[in-house]
Amino acid sequence: MGKKVVYRLPRKTFDGDKEIHLNDLEEFLVNENQSLKYKVGELKKEDIKLGRLKKDKDEFSIIEPSSIDLIKRYRRGAQIMTLKDAAPIIAKTGINKESLVIDAGTGSGSLASILANIVGEVHTVDINQDHVKVAKKNVEKTNLKNIVFVEKNILEPANFEKEKYDLFTLDISTPWNALDTANKVLKKGGYLVVYSPSITQIQKTVNELPKYLQYLETIEVIERAWKVGEKVLRPETKDHGHTGFLCFVRKL
Ligand SMILES: C[S@@+](CC[C@H](N)C(=O)[O-])C[C@H]1O[C@@H](n2cnc3c(N)ncnc32)[C@H](O)[C@@H]1O
Repeated sequence: MGKKVVYRLPRKTFDGDKEIHLNDLEEFLVNENQSLKYKVGELKKEDIKLGRLKKDKDEFSIIEPSSIDLIKRYRRGAQIMTLKDAAPIIAKTGINKESLVIDAGTGSGSLASILANIVGEVHTVDINQDHVKVAKKNVEKTNLKNIVFVEKNILEPANFEKEKYDLFTLDISTPWNALDTANKVLKKGGYLVVYSPSITQIQKTVNELPKYLQYLETIEVIERAWKVGEKVLRPETKDHGHTGFLCFVRKL
């Protein structure tokens, strides 16, 4: 079923010199054959066609969704990796369309999908059937065809091929227990990136790194959105707070 992203464009009016803000930009993901109810009205399904549309006092822009438009609306079974935390994994490891990635655990499939948008193939691993079901349904909503779901325990290296992967992303609560797997499945020069909400999980992982896994750095990405308008210029009041730490390791 085709989906479209519908933007209700912002509106303002003037009372003399005074600017009156009527509504912010609003973004919706809609099925082509369904109508869209928004705060003050409704777009009929026959209105939801690519391009610009005027309806009463509102103006809409209707576009095709990108992969990220779909991924950021995934149903969440487990806690997902955010875009801000996925970005440095891509930038710092230099993965590209040739790269092969192993990702554990799958969770809702968010990180696997963000990476699949960039790399050749992602093998995403989870032991929880329910989580895999949610992730598969999520991925079906995109046009990503390069995600392979593997229902196995990441703690057992024998389940996976040796020296095969360029990147191993590890987002489970006991990452130190998967270091043997990481050591075996990574190619020389490949990266392990551990994502953990707690710094003590990172510390334990770094302290237990085996000989060929070289610790590089740990970072926390703090994102602060700003409100920018003609008369307003300040950080948004809504604070996203802490998500997690990213620990970068390389097989040398
Ligand atoms: C926080 S979620 C991962 C979220 C994922 N990165 C995302 O962006 O959607 C952690 C997942 O790890 C899985 N997991 C925990 N231990 C595992 C193991 N030993 N082998 C494979 N998967 C495991 C859990 O079932 C859970 O789905």
